[in-house]
Amino acid sequence: MTTQLLGFVLLLFSTIIIQSHSSSPTTSPIKLPTPAVVTLSVSDYGAHGDGVHYDTHHIQSTIDACSATSAATCHVVFPPGTYLTATLFLKSGVILNIQRGAKLLGGTKLEDYPSEQSRWYVVVAEDATDVGITGGGEIDGQGLEFVERFDERKNVMVSWNRTGACFDDECRPRLVGFLRCRNVRVWNVSLTQPAYWCLHIVKCENTSIQDVSIYGDFNTPNNDGIDIEDSNNTVITRCNIDTGDDAICPKTSTAPLYNLTATNCWIRTKSSAIKLGSASWFEFKGLVFDNITIVDSHRGLALQIRDGGNVSDITFSNINISTRYYDPLWWGRAEPIYVTTCPRHKHYTAGSISNVQFINITAKSENGVFLSGSSGVPLCNLKFLNVDLTYTRWTNYRDGLVDYRPGCQELVNHSAAGMILEHIQGLVVENVNMRWSEDNSRRWNNPLDFRPSTVNNISLLNFHSGLTVEDFSYLGNEIGFMGNKF
Ligand SMILES: *[C@@H]1O[C@H](CO)[C@@H](O)[C@H](O)[C@H]1NC(C)=O
Ligand SMILES: *[C@@H]1O[C@H](CO)[C@@H](O)[C@H](O)[C@H]1NC(C)=O
Ligand SMILES: *[C@@H]1O[C@H](CO)[C@@H](O)[C@H](O)[C@H]1NC(C)=O
Ligand SMILES: *[C@@H]1O[C@H](CO)[C@@H](O)[C@H](O)[C@H]1NC(C)=O
Ligand SMILES: *[C@@H]1O[C@H](CO)[C@@H](O)[C@H](O)[C@H]1NC(C)=O
Ligand SMILES: *[C@@H]1O[C@H](CO)[C@@H](O)[C@H](O)[C@H]1NC(C)=O
Ligand SMILES: *[C@@H]1O[C@H](CO)[C@@H](O)[C@H](O)[C@H]1NC(C)=O
Ligand SMILES: *[C@@H]1O[C@H](CO)[C@@H](O)[C@H](O)[C@H]1NC(C)=O
Ligand SMILES: *[C@@H]1O[C@H](CO)[C@@H](O)[C@H](O)[C@H]1NC(C)=O
Ligand SMILES: *[C@@H]1O[C@H](CO)[C@@H](O)[C@H](O)[C@H]1NC(C)=O
Ligand SMILES: *[C@@H]1O[C@H](CO)[C@@H](O)[C@H](O)[C@H]1NC(C)=O
Repeated sequence: MTTQLLGFVLLLFSTIIIQSHSSSPTTSPIKLPTPAVVTLSVSDYGAHGDGVHYDTHHIQSTIDACSATSAATCHVVFPPGTYLTATLFLKSGVILNIQRGAKLLGGTKLEDYPSEQSRWYVVVAEDATDVGITGGGEIDGQGLEFVERFDERKNVMVSWNRTGACFDDECRPRLVGFLRCRNVRVWNVSLTQPAYWCLHIVKCENTSIQDVSIYGDFNTPNNDGIDIEDSNNTVITRCNIDTGDDAICPKTSTAPLYNLTATNCWIRTKSSAIKLGSASWFEFKGLVFDNITIVDSHRGLALQIRDGGNVSDITFSNINISTRYYDPLWWGRAEPIYVTTCPRHKHYTAGSISNVQFINITAKSENGVFLSGSSGVPLCNLKFLNVDLTYTRWTNYRDGLVDYRPGCQELVNHSAAGMILEHIQGLVVENVNMRWSEDNSRRWNNPLDFRPSTVNNISLLNFHSGLTVEDFSYLGNEIGFMGNKF
């Protein structure tokens, strides 16, 4: 039915096009943008590609020459080789085409980067349109060179805070940045070992990130996968992200963020797989996350709203999650789903969170779901539909901590529960299954743990909680029988 209708609409559409063409033969045909793609090789501009000599000027000259051509698109091609470089500035109409076997290697010295800390990237595009990176090759930030002391719990990183523009160990260069750009495409490229954030999209409009593979050291803090900040109309698809810190992380610092879609991705992180926040000064609206696999992560789907920005119309669907504990130095406490808003500091106000749906979610985790609004700012209209939660412990890290970080109440002692709920107005739970698969389930509190606060307008439909079949042996035959029935 739908297909037929669609076919009809398409037919109608093409008919109209044909008619409009044939009925107005005098008007000149619509000129399709047929960009002559020009290609320039960095080798022709003197790049060594030996990984030893800096190729910065050769590459930058190629980019500049490329942007000076009249072609709509100009590719800067990197043949196989290793290209050591200081910051490169990408220009409008230029695509970096890093071929398979080619690697851009970011410099590790402060003087490799511009004086302003906000421009510390290995590759950055500022105020550009129609820019991108592709080719099947790699950009490597040499993140391990920024480790001051290796620590399995969390590495201690060097800090370039001499400028005073940033503090502590968050003073390191990012890998790739698109700042105030339009029509950005990053596809078929590997981004590895960022010293700090990996792919940063700031105040951009119309961005597509596809077939990108991100790899960062698992013990390094702040090596986020993709940070999308103050940007509209962003599509992320078929990405593979394996890193220490947050994997896909929308933020609002100076402006709102609308329309972000992330689909068909695989994620592993020692922090949150998907995290809204914690920078959350402006609105987030219209975000969709679909068909995502999350493994081995510290937290699955997270809204960590702390600065007064309001969040609405967020959908998570068809997601398979596995979350576990790591050292509590990392934010995250093995929660598969985490929805929180609270004022980061005393004088801040809490942003609102409304219309958030979780549909077709399967999770296996060491801790439960945490849903927490703030006094006077309840979470509004949350929906859980077709959600399958399996709870079991498999690491030896301590549990019994509720994580409000950053700010707010920080870490609070409280025993784990299937779902902790506080300050909620409107919650629909439909076809939700919670299972405990170990005898240490006795360490857990109730399936639903309502905290002293206002929780209002809840609907439970086909909600079930119980122990699983396979783990009844320790309880003896009687319950084993129940298990068989169940
Ligand atoms: C990625 O680029 C490589 C090398 O150019 C090419 O062989 C491959 O088909 C591309 N893959 C995708 C998914 O575009
Ligand atoms: C950063 O700089 C401040 C002074 O601005 C200094 O007190 C602090 O020790 C520095 N931190 C690191 C990690 O270098
Ligand atoms: C978005 O950007 C892509 C290229 O990155 C371009 O092909 C497309 O036309 C742009 N869409 C809009 C609405 O500008
Ligand atoms: C995103 O959309 C909002 C609302 O239209 C607008 O205020 C903001 O400037 C847009 N941001 C960008 C980067 O285009
Ligand atoms: C977000 O998407 C909606 C629906 O496609 C569209 O109407 C709206 O203009 C978009 N918002 C921005 C800021 O582009
Ligand atoms: C879901 O994403 C995976 C890649 O992670 C892809 O192989 C699969 O085809 C996608 N499924 C659907 C229904 O799009
Ligand atoms: C969030 O919503 C509240 C209530 O509607 C409003 O007062 C506040 O200004 C909004 N915050 C932002 C940052 O837009
Ligand atoms: C989720 O992933 C695990 C492995 O990570 C797999 O065993 C399980 O079958 C998956 N569940 C669904 C519903 O796809
Ligand atoms: C959820 O799963 C069901 C059954 O597989 C499917 O029919 C439905 O379209 C899915 N919902 C969403 C929002 O993907
Ligand atoms: C939380 O629990 C830990 C370990 O059980 C204990 O040392 C600490 O004092 C507790 N904190 C509070 C605030 O009760
Ligand atoms: C209760 O929740 C339902 C579903 O979220 C919503 O449609 C309804 O308006 C809510 N009622 C009140 C009184 O808030």
